[in-house]
Amino acid sequence: MSSAPVLKIKNLSTYFYTRLGVIKAVDRVSFEVEPGKLLGLVGESGCGKSVTALSILRLIEPPGRILSGEVWLNGHDLLKIPPGQLRQVRGREIALVFQDPLTSLNPVLTIGTQLAETIVSHEEVSRAEARRRAVELLFRLGLPDPERLMRLYPFQLSGGMRQRVMMAMAISMRPKVLIADEPTTALDVTVQAQILAELKRLQEEMGMAIILITHDLGVVAAMADEVAVMYAGSIVERGSVVQIFDRPAHPYTRALLRSVPRLGKEELVPIGGQPPALLNLPAHCAFLPRCPEAHTECRGKKPELREIGPDHAAACHRISRSCPGEAGRR
Ligand SMILES: Nc1ncnc2c1ncn2[C@@H]1O[C@H](COP(=O)(O)OP(=O)(O)OP(=O)(O)O)[C@@H](O)[C@H]1O
Ligand SMILES: [Mg+2]
Repeated sequence: MSSAPVLKIKNLSTYFYTRLGVIKAVDRVSFEVEPGKLLGLVGESGCGKSVTALSILRLIEPPGRILSGEVWLNGHDLLKIPPGQLRQVRGREIALVFQDPLTSLNPVLTIGTQLAETIVSHEEVSRAEARRRAVELLFRLGLPDPERLMRLYPFQLSGGMRQRVMMAMAISMRPKVLIADEPTTALDVTVQAQILAELKRLQEEMGMAIILITHDLGVVAAMADEVAVMYAGSIVERGSVVQIFDRPAHPYTRALLRSVPRLGKEELVPIGGQPPALLNLPAHCAFLPRCPEAHTECRGKKPELREIGPDHAAACHRISRSCPGEAGRR
């Protein structure tokens, strides 16, 4: 890490109190992002990526509850500031593009009105100027005929188009931190490339920090500076993109890398077994039942995330006891 982080998350825990029991969706998660950097947050479905994003913006609703943690942005802990101040911070300083964009657009207003209003509420520009900027933004995100799109209502758009409108909405506020939860999942490859290029531009030109949540490790390899790998509600490995892809230390990271297609890697090996239910998680390492490198010591208490090298941390008993170089073998 070179410059001061713009966003710092410490020991964040969010549980859901359901009739069946307590779901530990996010369990003592810590990470930080620097201005102008992109952090890729990866892990299998259900591991807690979206709940982490929602917790950062304090958008968790019952039966969920943020139990503990700190979310530092600009000298304020977002988990402690009053709701009024929080509303000002959301959008302006930190914005989230939701995984499910239908719920976050107003159904009775046209896209143009919503976008222009967002821009006007954040900057001193005329409505005409705001509309002009909105059109340009939609165009840059690869939306065809943006002038016409401005006159449409959310229900008239495809899922992929709504996702890009949400992205435009978030970007138009020029936040310091943008969290994009699966922003390109519903899109074809060309449009996906266009959106990712736009994200990269914002990151570089505006110094925006981006947290990109995605299943696509190819995208992470190409775009991320830092990577955090989640498993069963916890971060099991964190490091620079080079560390994670060239010297993955955690057995889960290695399994994950082997299980998804990437350029230059033909042989795919699925990860055996199922991800654990987050209900009644064991006291030991959650990856133990699926881990090809498990040992008796792994039956002990859950391993903490610890530094294993420069800009590289992992939560595994096997690694902390060997040298990181040894742990880095594939
Ligand atoms: N409202 C809720 N009530 C109960 N459990 C919930 C609720 N929302 C999320 N969870 C649980 O929290 C866990 C983490 O969910 P989350 O949506 O963060 O996963 P994810 O990593 O984003 O998965 P995906 O890649 O599929 O989007 C899951 O086990 C899920 O069942
Ligand atoms: Mg999700």
